[in-house]
Amino acid sequence: MQSVVIILSAGMGTRMQSDLPKVLHKVACEPLLIHSMRTASQFGANKTIVVTGHGAEQVARVAINFDPKTEIVNQSEQLGTAHAVNQARETLSNFNGEVFILYGDTPFVEPSTLHKMSKERKDGAKVVVLGFNTNREHSYGRLIVSNDGSLKEIVEHKDANNLQRKINFCNSGVICTDSTLLFELISDIENDNANNEFYLTDIIKSAKNKNLKCVAVECTENEAMGINSKVDLANAEKYFQTKKRTEMMLKGVTLIAPDTVWFANDTVIGRDTVIEQNVIFGPETTVESHALIKSFSHIEGAHISKGAIIGPFARLRPGAVLANNSKVGNFCEVKKSQVGEGAKINHLSYVGDTKIGDNANIGAGTITCNYDGVSKHITEIGDKAFIGSNTSLVAPVRVGNGAMTASGSVITKNIPDEALGIARSPQENKLNFAVKFFKRLKAIKINVKKGK
Ligand code: UD1
Ligand code: CA
Repeated sequence: MQSVVIILSAGMGTRMQSDLPKVLHKVACEPLLIHSMRTASQFGANKTIVVTGHGAEQVARVAINFDPKTEIVNQSEQLGTAHAVNQARETLSNFNGEVFILYGDTPFVEPSTLHKMSKERKDGAKVVVLGFNTNREHSYGRLIVSNDGSLKEIVEHKDANNLQRKINFCNSGVICTDSTLLFELISDIENDNANNEFYLTDIIKSAKNKNLKCVAVECTENEAMGINSKVDLANAEKYFQTKKRTEMMLKGVTLIAPDTVWFANDTVIGRDTVIEQNVIFGPETTVESHALIKSFSHIEGAHISKGAIIGPFARLRPGAVLANNSKVGNFCEVKKSQVGEGAKINHLSYVGDTKIGDNANIGAGTITCNYDGVSKHITEIGDKAFIGSNTSLVAPVRVGNGAMTASGSVITKNIPDEALGIARSPQENKLNFAVKFFKRLKAIKINVKKGK
């Protein structure tokens, strides 16, 4: 059966107090909207439609960037959730199958939950609503369930009476139904309510009028979490991180202090890798198995291979690709560079736009001078090369295989294989100079005090 997911993302998000459209605020380094889009694609939806409105262009750009096949429909005036869904009517006029309504501000709905809803529909329900129980104070719509277990009505908080407000079973907003039926049912929806909006929740009333069976499927309160403010955003981050840490540990990653490690939504780590305290992963990082990431390392856009050792206090930026058993030690920054198998950058270095060969040793304080103020240039360091401490490698430049540089050199010319590159002023020793020099300085000081 073909399936389509419509993600409502047109709302203002006033309570975020932000210039950024609500659905573009990030949890785990990814816009909220992308979390919902991932749910749709992991579920296996054949098509995803994003309904934009507030900040439409910006929202559409992010959605298309994630998945170029995304269809965007615009809701120029936000007249309610049913009105938002109705904007997809034309796009779906030739579509026959199952529809899910998700939300750009409700990021944690699991693909398995959509499967559960789909199953209820296959078992005979015409409209399936996702609900959750909560004991907190809130303003969610309430799900009214009949004695036979079917869903009777959804009452919005603003329109609910005191008795209805005591109900703990709430509407997540997520709905599953048949595409043709969806547009038939929302055609009947009116806006005679406290907000004068076309409520999607009234789809249950329309279905009941046609004697169609509606049911609610339950998920956890966290899964249904909707984000309306920056307080909600921080709570969502907390929930995500707790979930991801658990997932990582269950897959065999060792986290010594889980609460201090932060992951991006797309972080992938192999089993038996050990992550020490206070490590942060930005987007697009993969770590193979049996690596060791020591404390206070900051890693984004990097690939770390088997057995590599990173940190403490290392910074890996986008394009850092570390081969097996390589090492990047304390206070080293690596950007857009390949580090060969067994190669070591152990102390206080900047390596950018560089290709380092296997088993090369990069001495303390080595800097690749990759930027001339206008363009970036490449540094190449051969296999088994030995870079002396405090070398500046002024790119573009190549250090050959098995070659070395003398400490403190500023290398501006290529060094052939197995040669030594030395570029510093020669040393001269002046015998007895230090003793005579300080004698003279002290004499001057005494004379100044005497006023001579
Ligand atoms: C909605 C539900 C409520 C449910 C709650 C769960 C309705 C009428 N109410 O209320 O029962 O408990 O979600 O979080 O559906 N949107 C548009 N266009 C519009 C209006 C809204 O795209 O014209 C989008 C918003 O961007 C948002 C979502 O729909 O992503 C929900 O809208 P919102 O106004 O936040 O509805 P709630 O009051 O939270
Ligand atoms: Ca909401």
